[in-house]
Amino acid sequence: MNMHSSEAATAEEAIAAQEALPPLTNEDATAVAMQNTLLTPRFYTTDFDEMDAIDVTSVRGEWDALIARMKSDPNKGHFKKNADWDDVDWDGMEPKLKAEFIDFLISSCTAEFSGCVLYKEMKRRGSNQDITTLFQLMARDEARHAGFINDALREAGIAVNLGFLTQSKKYTYFRPKFIYYATYLSEKIGYARYITIFRHLEAHPEKRFHPIFKWFREWCNDEFSHGEAFALLMKTDPKLTESFQNRMWIKFFLTAVFATMWVRDHQRPAFHAALGVDPAWYGQEVFRKTSEITRQVFPMTLDIDHPRWVPTLNRIQAANVQIAAGEKRGGIAGKLAALGGRIKAGVNFIGLLTIPVQRNAVPASPRLEPVY
Ligand SMILES: [Fe+2]
Ligand SMILES: [Fe+2]
Repeated sequence: MNMHSSEAATAEEAIAAQEALPPLTNEDATAVAMQNTLLTPRFYTTDFDEMDAIDVTSVRGEWDALIARMKSDPNKGHFKKNADWDDVDWDGMEPKLKAEFIDFLISSCTAEFSGCVLYKEMKRRGSNQDITTLFQLMARDEARHAGFINDALREAGIAVNLGFLTQSKKYTYFRPKFIYYATYLSEKIGYARYITIFRHLEAHPEKRFHPIFKWFREWCNDEFSHGEAFALLMKTDPKLTESFQNRMWIKFFLTAVFATMWVRDHQRPAFHAALGVDPAWYGQEVFRKTSEITRQVFPMTLDIDHPRWVPTLNRIQAANVQIAAGEKRGGIAGKLAALGGRIKAGVNFIGLLTIPVQRNAVPASPRLEPVY
């Protein structure tokens, strides 16, 4: 009797459960997951000893409450197909939508699994009980999420080979503070993305073209908790969010994460049209929620209503289209077009960084609830 990844108590068990499923011709999906570009999810490694040395004493009360909640495991068994899982007509799906949706699932699976491998490794290398307990719980959740997306992909006859990815995908080194900023943000923006889609489809159920969206509420609550953990980790060292240099880094990461989301979502017009979502509306809505949440720990928010914000994002998006077209075309003309696109994207990204931020007085306690 095989366990399903949704029931697994650890990431290792969840991955093993996924690997025990019948093999599929999954080279294509895995090849997509293996890509490392500015816009595709990466795998990270860091200075695990430095992270293991974190002392959570200064946030002990909130820390213990968060860990207790995660240990109680409210979502055990949730990430599994059940009676709510309607039949999916993959063959009848409009080809452009199908291609974009599969791309969305593969990229989401890779992003979920990226968290899993980083957290699992921290758990394996560490000796600090507080830290290893947290990372083991987060790795468990991410492995279940990735496993569930893979279950959805399997119905379309494809799957991402998680074991192969762990072994073979390139790892990018980030020093711990960059891991905090980037991972905290990706957990919180992940929450905002999932809950925004969930609420939209609650209001427009006829647009729910695939059952996986029904699982998004519990899903995003996991991501919310993970983000809370990183907020507490950052709270243990006030320098991380207060020094001038680090405030510049936070602004950089906020801008990079928001701009990347904008460009990637605009690459999937058929997917968003099927959901009845305008990517520009969706982007701003997600940025607004994320900004509101990150006030728990970041000393500033980006001014997403500044008159230059959306037009500059759109120019970066146009530059990205130019890069892709140039690369596809090839030859000297294609290369020049792609280079021109990169310069345009870079100049406009700097343009975003010149928009003044809005200062934020950080509360003494970061504690938040997922209220959206
Ligand atoms: Fe996740
Ligand atoms: Fe997460």
